[in-house]
Amino acid sequence: MGPFAWRQAIANEPSELKIPELIDARNHGQSISLKAQPGKTSFYPGRESETLGYNGSYLGPTLRVHRGDDVEVAVSNTLGEDTTVHWHGLLIPGELDGGPHQPIANGATWRPVLPIRQPAATLWYHSHAYGRTAEQVYAGLAGLMIVTDDEEKALGLPSEYGIDDIPLVLQDRQFEDGVLTIPQGMMTMMHGRQGNTLVVNGTVNPFARVPRRLVRLRLLNGANARFFNLSFSDGRSFHWVASEAGLLENSVELRSLHLAPGERAEILVDFSDGRPTTLETGQNSSTSMMRSRSAGAEKEAVVRFEPQGAEASPIQIPEQLSSHAHLEASQAIRRRHFEMTMDMRQMMSGRSGSFGINGRSFDRGRIDQRIGLGDVEIWEVSSAMMVHPFHIHGVHFTVLSRNGSLPDVRDQGLRDTIVVQEPVELLVKFTQPAETLPFMYHCHILEHEDNGMMGQFSVS
Ligand code: C2O
Ligand code: CU
Ligand code: CU
Repeated sequence: MGPFAWRQAIANEPSELKIPELIDARNHGQSISLKAQPGKTSFYPGRESETLGYNGSYLGPTLRVHRGDDVEVAVSNTLGEDTTVHWHGLLIPGELDGGPHQPIANGATWRPVLPIRQPAATLWYHSHAYGRTAEQVYAGLAGLMIVTDDEEKALGLPSEYGIDDIPLVLQDRQFEDGVLTIPQGMMTMMHGRQGNTLVVNGTVNPFARVPRRLVRLRLLNGANARFFNLSFSDGRSFHWVASEAGLLENSVELRSLHLAPGERAEILVDFSDGRPTTLETGQNSSTSMMRSRSAGAEKEAVVRFEPQGAEASPIQIPEQLSSHAHLEASQAIRRRHFEMTMDMRQMMSGRSGSFGINGRSFDRGRIDQRIGLGDVEIWEVSSAMMVHPFHIHGVHFTVLSRNGSLPDVRDQGLRDTIVVQEPVELLVKFTQPAETLPFMYHCHILEHEDNGMMGQFSVS
């Protein structure tokens, strides 16, 4: 069978959504082992791809940690090259952050003890190896981390992992004849690595059986560069309940949800009518040079949901989900400006260092910003030419404005990653020290980050 016939034969074969193994730190004496390892993964039957994973061949287990606990994670490395593990969204000091300054050599083990002191949220962990983040994450080095706490448990939201509380790691990957390939070249660098196939929790063309009731979906955009614009095939609405850093104050009813690389969202979907529906995405759009975020008409299936069993009595979504202590813009003692920049002439000539922030490429030896511990600042972030998702380590922030006006509905809540198409003003409080090792801020299109669209700051 030639490649084309083979593709036709398997194209319509749906497979059951894989659910990453759950490791609850409390069931393991607050000590978790993660092993970064090479492996082989069959995304399509009979076609093996070379991949990387934690404790497996692709992606990693979901780690569940509880607020107030101290959790040791022993990360060992058998990749044959350096790696790091960064806890994206966790509020911890710089020495535990797992950024590019903390390589774990092949054969070595890193044992950070993570103090969990923040509200319930969906976070993630991934490689942040110097210059190698994009390729290592593309090959599979990423996983989810769920923080829970008593306040969240008291709300009675769907919380049965893999049953009515379903993690969805959304990625796109390039396949040739069913085998994962890694795109290279100048256009790949410019737009970030994108693929011809959507993959959810490492599953191609997935379906999931769900109970006939309210179900929580924990969405992570774990793609290197692809933006998702999610909606259901039957147009049904859903409730957005959590941004990157945890529960919103009140849920927001939506019919579509935009998710940039690195962003997470938790949504509640009512499947009690028993009708199957498909979570879909618009075509990729946001990384075009045109700055257009409007997706094409054509939709791609992300995952199909098939409700099963008897209809359960409806759960009320609590009126109030959380209450945050509000920061005021007047508390800010300083304003800083960041522009994500691309040097087209350098890029055309194939030189690295064509990406930067304020025209400067990342330099491990240079601290770009020095910040006082406990300070509140306003960060103005803008982007030249393309849309870039901006991420800051070690903090949660709120969006004060977008394009000089009130932020979008989707900008609300505490966040660690934000889409920068129009300029935004972020109100940031620096609560974590980073004295011996700095924190990073960068574009979460990983190819941009690896090629220099990143800076670092100390907090003391
Ligand atoms: Cu999700 Cu600096 O990373
Ligand atoms: Cu991060
Ligand atoms: Cu970028």
